[in-house]
Amino acid sequence: MCGIVGFTGELPAKDILISGLEQLEYRGYDSAGIAILDQEKGLLLKKKTGHVADLREAAKDMDTAGTCGIGHTRWATHGGVTEANAHPHNCGSVTLIHNGIIENYRELTVEYGLSEKLKSETDTEVVAALLDKIYEGDPIVAIRKTVKLLAGTFALCIMFSDRPNVIYCVRNVSPLVAAVFDEGTIIASDLTALIPYSKKYFVVPEYHILTMMKDSIHVEDMKGNKVTPEILTVDWDINSAQKGGYPHFMLKEIYEQPEALERTIMPRVSDGMPDFTEDGIPDEVLEKVKRVVVVACGTAMHAGMVGAKVIESRLRIPVQVEIASEFRYKDPIIDEEALTVILSQSGETTDTLEALKIAKSRGSKTISIVNVKGSTIARESDYVLYTHAGPEIAVASTKAYTVQISAMYLLAARMGFVKGILSEEETKEFIAKLSGAGELISKTLENANNIKRIANHIKLAQDVFYIGRGIDYTMSLEASLKLKEISYIHAEAYAAGELKHGTIALISENVPVIAIATEPSVYPKTISNMKEVKSRGAYVILISQDAEKPDDSVCDRQIRIPDAEPTFSVFSTAAVLQLIAYYTSDARGLDVDKPRNLAKSVTVE
Ligand code: M6R
Repeated sequence: MCGIVGFTGELPAKDILISGLEQLEYRGYDSAGIAILDQEKGLLLKKKTGHVADLREAAKDMDTAGTCGIGHTRWATHGGVTEANAHPHNCGSVTLIHNGIIENYRELTVEYGLSEKLKSETDTEVVAALLDKIYEGDPIVAIRKTVKLLAGTFALCIMFSDRPNVIYCVRNVSPLVAAVFDEGTIIASDLTALIPYSKKYFVVPEYHILTMMKDSIHVEDMKGNKVTPEILTVDWDINSAQKGGYPHFMLKEIYEQPEALERTIMPRVSDGMPDFTEDGIPDEVLEKVKRVVVVACGTAMHAGMVGAKVIESRLRIPVQVEIASEFRYKDPIIDEEALTVILSQSGETTDTLEALKIAKSRGSKTISIVNVKGSTIARESDYVLYTHAGPEIAVASTKAYTVQISAMYLLAARMGFVKGILSEEETKEFIAKLSGAGELISKTLENANNIKRIANHIKLAQDVFYIGRGIDYTMSLEASLKLKEISYIHAEAYAAGELKHGTIALISENVPVIAIATEPSVYPKTISNMKEVKSRGAYVILISQDAEKPDDSVCDRQIRIPDAEPTFSVFSTAAVLQLIAYYTSDARGLDVDKPRNLAKSVTVE
């Protein structure tokens, strides 16, 4: 949450900062601001509520060639969406931006008598005031002392007015990546703001202080020892982080799924078998597993639920799926017999990260399924299975979800094989079907116009219900989340058999009920549930395998997906539910990629 960018070098900073914020806007878009240390004019500050485009407009009157500055796009935590609360915050000789939450800001305000200095309601400004109070001419000393006093999470980029052309940075949990290139040095909360300048970068180590100068970055630990961070190479280019002719990132990312699946699955298949040699996951870890605990948030958790269904039904190994924010506070029953699988696109979600730490501390081996290289969750887990979706910019997760499912399936297949539950032939057959996941999505996307027409029908609904059984119920959960988050239509997912235990009371004339029914074993049961709602006036849409030909008494519309085993139909279903949400949001004239109140990575609890 919140996007951070800082630049110092030979080029005018203003445009670099604003362009960087545009790339990072998916991290938060309540308000934005920049601060530039101009050699002649001193500190220049511009903040604006709304989108970065509003800041760009407002910054037109900033006449500066200053080459050192910091910028921030905010997702409000402490204090409403106002210019005063927007970052950067200045106090005396200190100007800074912050991502994270300072939990003890009240105590610090009282203990250090800072209230007189504060002009906003933010926790961040307290850090600026504290740092200014402590500062006696040596930035590193002041930062060390300040950081020791902070409780919470933070990525901070700081300018001191008597240190022109230098930016100081420090972080705990909240991410920062940095790079040196020919014309300067740059730092940001994620790679999208860096890649126009450099393919080489490093992840800022936690509790280390960076001194960013025009041509180099000095990194030291809290004791002042020089540290040389590992230089990484970005494996995607700037085009992956642009719309490439699509009206929205979300639509582009939906269409990128076949390639993303190919990149995630195929390097892990050798001679038709799942193979984690390159990932460094030893078979012994999978062989020993007695039970699996899957922990994640939101869409990532829904991907974990799909994987769990397959592990349970095919391998008969018990799997527990946990919401990370619940898991971490419930004193979970977990030990060395359980394998913990953590899913996270960003690799930075705070609740998921903390859940991972708990599982590890109780002796469970941890495998994370993560999309962002070098992210905190990836670094903290025992083993990582990177998904290769490429950057996911739209707040609503799409391609990250399907590649997470594919990674869960790969894990299931290898686990089944090494435990002797699946024969080599069965494993190969499973992997061959998984390898066709991208093709299933491509075929489903050919039906996009039909789905668009259906979305046009539901765009005026107040409520939408998704129903399904078994694996289709887990898909319903994701379907309703996707629809809610970008169309703002109230949507609920129900296990189809549960409807008549209460929820059916909500069914009235024309309420859309979308039934997902891809499992032949329970298809007739779901059809009965559809008839129950149809006879109460619901407008029923059926998502089913192509082979199913229900009569008109069952549904008003049908979305046919390519025939496949239900385990693999999930990929087609995913594309359908993503398109329903996308087209509904677009038809309602909403900001599809940046839905209200949300941000891409949730780095606060
Ligand atoms: O980065 P993560 O996968 O850990 O994020 C978890 C959720 O915040 C995320 O999946 C969220 O639910 C999606 N943006 C919804 O589309």
